[in-house]
Amino acid sequence: MKEKVNNDSGIEERVESLLSRMTLEEKIGQMTQVRHFDDITTEDVKNKFIGSVIHTQGPLPGNDAAGWQARFIELQKQALSTRLGIPLLFGVDAVHGQNTYEGATIFPHNIGLGATRNADLVEKAAAITAIESRATGFNWVFSPCVAIPFNEKWGRVYEAFSEDTAITSDLARASVRGHQGASYAHKVMATAKHFIGDGATDFGVEGGNCSLNQKDLHQRLLPPYRAAIEEGVGSVMASFNKLDGISMHAHKAMITDTLKGSLKFDGIVVSDWKAYSRFGETDIINAGIDMVMAVDGDLSSFQEGVRNGVHQGAIPQARIDDAVRRILRQKFRLGLFDNPFPDQTLISRIGAPAHRDVARQAVRESLVLLKNERHALPLKKDAKIVVVGEFGDNAGLQSGGWTVNWQGSEANYEGATTILQGIRKYATGEVQYDKDGTATPSSPDVAVIVVGETPYAEFFGDIGGEMNKYQLTLSEAHQEYIRAYSEKGIKTVVVLISGRPLVVTQQIQQADAFVAAWLPGSEGAGIADVLFGEHDFQGKLPHSWPRAVEDFAGKYGPNFWDGSIVPLFPIGFGLHYGR
Ligand code: BGC
Repeated sequence: MKEKVNNDSGIEERVESLLSRMTLEEKIGQMTQVRHFDDITTEDVKNKFIGSVIHTQGPLPGNDAAGWQARFIELQKQALSTRLGIPLLFGVDAVHGQNTYEGATIFPHNIGLGATRNADLVEKAAAITAIESRATGFNWVFSPCVAIPFNEKWGRVYEAFSEDTAITSDLARASVRGHQGASYAHKVMATAKHFIGDGATDFGVEGGNCSLNQKDLHQRLLPPYRAAIEEGVGSVMASFNKLDGISMHAHKAMITDTLKGSLKFDGIVVSDWKAYSRFGETDIINAGIDMVMAVDGDLSSFQEGVRNGVHQGAIPQARIDDAVRRILRQKFRLGLFDNPFPDQTLISRIGAPAHRDVARQAVRESLVLLKNERHALPLKKDAKIVVVGEFGDNAGLQSGGWTVNWQGSEANYEGATTILQGIRKYATGEVQYDKDGTATPSSPDVAVIVVGETPYAEFFGDIGGEMNKYQLTLSEAHQEYIRAYSEKGIKTVVVLISGRPLVVTQQIQQADAFVAAWLPGSEGAGIADVLFGEHDFQGKLPHSWPRAVEDFAGKYGPNFWDGSIVPLFPIGFGLHYGR
């Protein structure tokens, strides 16, 4: 058994002693999270008593990891030079590895980890993410997402482990343990997000309304939070969706009464991106938000708003104290007062081979074999192979959103291995590449056709939403790759790169073998390991798989558990070579 993170001996006394010495300005400062650029000057950190700094999309903190550390050391020194010397939390969206840093190890997105069902592996991946995040100067990650997606139309399905509550709870626990487990030297604070109902909105709209009844809310959506809290998760992020018409950021009953009350969460409730500007700082703080994310462009007026709220009695002083107590508690638990600076010796571990090996194992274990006929798989090493499609040789496309950039990348990035490169390492026969289905390769034995969804994040990926860029089926061009090769009588192995199950019933019929590979990340070689039979398929579907576009007509898409829609494959399905 690993020791839990909440070894609080003496911490509460230290928190109370510090809190009793703080002015209102210093307290409001602790509740403020800023970006590390724009209108925030280095001196603001000191003068406005800032509690935390976030890095996400936007200018990089430096040219390389040493530069990132240097920038954060500079800011930390400012914080430490204040009267009470309270250190900063540095937060980052490291949701599948330290994905904001090019060259880091990129793991499969959570949906792929959900297919592995391997809690030990999820724990290891999180521990590695913690090391690489620390190496780039962070001590807080906004991960794991513990949503239960009901509808594949939601653009964030892949950030969640599974549609199943028990699997999600189990892996959430493992993820928290890996990120902040006391037995690891280099921990970061984890964040269970987005509380609550993010993946269960009507028609899968990001930030939409969740109209789920109380029973399902409590039985299906809450358990992963309970699991994360039992594991000592340091923070929980509020969600942009509404619950029965009430914005979650202003939902006092859920945040204060349920999360902090019945579930006994004693960590930080952080808002989502600039939520104060959408819902008002008074309402969100009164609902129970402790730290306000990304105060940017209006730092003085934000802090003044909170100060006036307290002076006028609109925000109780006790609420401010509760928020600051929670923030200080987590800073003590993380050991930041004793160890506020990043460790330079960790830099060499970013993207290290030992880390990549674990990510490659995760890729192998995440692959779900949906069909295998005519002995299409495993591939023979001496076969004449053609790899088809732009996804076959593009690390950005195989990694999905939240990779290098917020919306992902459509190019190769440092340190990553593409699927084609992985295949080339095994093959002893000729390997040809037909990037866009226009080449006429000379009599291949087998075509490995890689198709999928181009990267997206958040509402950009909603299907039928505002942006309306994505669909439930493959693009015409990708459908054509599969049709054309199968009509030529060539054996076809389809590898699907996607952030969710898609409607591919016809393509599964046309193909000889079909593999759901999710969003594998930087280690494309893990796919070759299994295609060539060096390892067996182990992945099991983390979602039920839809049969037809019509399955999505309802509010909850084909995932709804009322039995009215029969999936093409049930959750848990996955074939094996059987050796
Ligand atoms: C997302 C969060 C993320 C935050 C910071 C928000 O838009 O909903 O998941 O952690 O941005 O980048």
